[in-house]
Amino acid sequence: MDAVSALPNALQMLLVAALVVQALMVASAGNFNQDVDITWGDGRGKILNDGQLLTLSLDKASGSGFQSKNEFLYGKFDMQLKLVPGNSAGTVTAYYLKSQGSSWDEIDFEFLGNLSGDPYIVHTNVYTKGKGDREQQFYLWFDPTADFHTYSILWNPGHVIFYVDGRPIREFKNLEQAGVPYPKNQAMKMYCSLWNADDWATRGGQVKTDWSQAPFTASFRNFTANACVWFNGASSCPSDSFSNSAWFSQELDSSSQKVLKWVQKKYMVYNYCKDAKRFPQGLPVECTVRNRKTD
Ligand SMILES: *[C@@H]1O[C@H](CO)[C@@H](O)[C@H](O)[C@H]1NC(C)=O
Ligand SMILES: *[C@@H]1O[C@H](CO)[C@@H](O)[C@H](O)[C@H]1NC(C)=O
Repeated sequence: MDAVSALPNALQMLLVAALVVQALMVASAGNFNQDVDITWGDGRGKILNDGQLLTLSLDKASGSGFQSKNEFLYGKFDMQLKLVPGNSAGTVTAYYLKSQGSSWDEIDFEFLGNLSGDPYIVHTNVYTKGKGDREQQFYLWFDPTADFHTYSILWNPGHVIFYVDGRPIREFKNLEQAGVPYPKNQAMKMYCSLWNADDWATRGGQVKTDWSQAPFTASFRNFTANACVWFNGASSCPSDSFSNSAWFSQELDSSSQKVLKWVQKKYMVYNYCKDAKRFPQGLPVECTVRNRKTD
């Protein structure tokens, strides 16, 4: 018998309550010096303005990238990005959450560059237990190189939702009951990078990176994680039922559902769920399960 279970029930409850008060969510409001490490690129990633701005650059020799110091298990993550301007064809700017190991979970935003004046593609994917193949791609309703815009990932026990400037563009529901693995027990770090992917990124790889335009630079601002921090095998959010943050139980209400449908109707470029040719054995389960509540 361990120390805690030896205590009388009432005392155990008190102990739990104390832990809850002590360590609810951790909200970090954007200082890159405190929140991230630049992990590669040999000086091509730079933290500027006292931690308020981070730039990544890419040239023929290398790209660059950074990652959060913390690992998270659930959270609402916001980042403001200003993408590579001008001729960004062949470049990819990535912003994602990922866990470790060979059976990892991952939630991706990737921004596929293009020739000047041609539209970026926002490429999204969700990996669970090391398996992805869940791409959805979108155009944006603004020029993502002219200014900063907010790209968010909501990840809670029921839903993964991708947002652009507060508008939902994609939802991945917890459909474990239908046999679809859901990211729920592997902590993830936040990663960003800028790299060359001209073998596939722009028009399927037909347009190559124009190195005479290098270095390419993307800018990041105001990373905010309203999240459960995972540390030493424990979460800063003690248990699901204790959690009182709005994001923890957030889902799309009917007006957000309408926005999602609007974005998908007007701006979706590719949806794996509509690509029957790619899945001759049948579409993935999450594409065919109907949700009781919302459909
Ligand atoms: C680049 O522009 C072309 C032409 O408008 C378009 O077909 C393509 O989807 C755009 N984006 C990427 C990443 O290729
Ligand atoms: C920083 O991000 C937070 C969370 O998205 C937002 O509420 C706040 O307005 C942002 N601050 C600036 C200066 O954009």
